[in-house]
Amino acid sequence: MSYFDTARQKQQALAKAGHAVILSIETSCDETAAAVVRDGREVLSNVVYTQIPLHRRFGGVVPELASRNHVDQIGVVVEQALSDAGRSLDSIDAIAVTCGPGLVGALLVGVSFAKGLALSHELPLVGTNHILGHIAANYLTFPDLEPPFTCLIASGGHSHIVRVAEYDRCELLGKTRDDAAGEAFDKVARVLGLPYPGGPELEKLAASGDPKAICFHSAFNEGDGFDMSFSGLKTAVINTLHTAEQKGEPVNRADVAASFQYAVNTILSDKAVRAANGTLALAGGVSANRNLRGMLQRKADRKGIRFCCPDFRYCTDNAAMIGSAGFYLLMRGHISDLDLNATPYLPIC
Ligand SMILES: Nc1ncnc2c1ncn2[C@@H]1O[C@H](COP(=O)(O)OP(=O)(O)OP(=O)(O)O)[C@@H](O)[C@H]1O
Ligand SMILES: [Mg+2]
Repeated sequence: MSYFDTARQKQQALAKAGHAVILSIETSCDETAAAVVRDGREVLSNVVYTQIPLHRRFGGVVPELASRNHVDQIGVVVEQALSDAGRSLDSIDAIAVTCGPGLVGALLVGVSFAKGLALSHELPLVGTNHILGHIAANYLTFPDLEPPFTCLIASGGHSHIVRVAEYDRCELLGKTRDDAAGEAFDKVARVLGLPYPGGPELEKLAASGDPKAICFHSAFNEGDGFDMSFSGLKTAVINTLHTAEQKGEPVNRADVAASFQYAVNTILSDKAVRAANGTLALAGGVSANRNLRGMLQRKADRKGIRFCCPDFRYCTDNAAMIGSAGFYLLMRGHISDLDLNATPYLPIC
């Protein structure tokens, strides 16, 4: 029997039982991560090796370095995840791996490693969308959360508002026309002289600033639609800093950070809460921003909708979220053959 026929048989048996212990792998950007997750909800281990110190001196992720560092770390990280879970590959039911979106060279490391494990142990392989993973971070945090619900995804590469119709199907309601929210945070942090990744640093600086000090306005975001734009706000910050510099006037950087954060989070939260009914979830790296979490919670409370956001350890890239998303794909029969490839612009809807 071919690898795929064996894997399909195993997938069908697992789906019938409704149970699976998954080893998951995530290498889409600058984190090498592996986890063991039971039934999509219970994290048995979660290992994240971050490359941030490696990229920091360049002010952003250098793709070539990221790929090479994943090659160095992937074996160690997977071994650690298995050992922390007290399991060997013989007691793993399937392998889930991020196959896109992300950096192609980085993705290929995880995909190739996962294929090797799947083939050598005749395990079903589940190519998993990284953004479905970010959404699934909420399943790890809220055991009773099930689709359908509305989700705001705000990460380094995405700002989407979607209706999560089913575990494996999203409908797009709106998205950014230019920069992603996390990207805008990173770029503004950079002009404020903060290190990479800028989002968390900007949040820290904003804590001592006045969010109403400067009005960063963006006409595009005022319409009724759910699409967003953040590059105009970013340019407004740069102009504010340049103008002050040219006039020789001092700038209160904390006020700039707080006002920019307020502007971005107001757009995200207004649109997401307006799009939601019933339940609203937050996902992606920017979900670690406490100011955004607070704004969404208050606005959701006012509208009488339930608000969910991931535990902090599952906000930025990790493999536990891939293990959760991968479980639901596996249960629905979405397994991959050995021709699984990395897809840098894999869409979510
Ligand atoms: N506390 C925070 N406040 C604001 N932004 C944050 C915070 N923590 C992380 N971020 C931002 O989140 C982003 C990283 O998130 P994530 O790891 O999900 O992105 P990514 O994987 O690079 O992109 P994607 O998930 O879209 O492929 C960065 O842009 C980072 O600045
Ligand atoms: Mg991500």
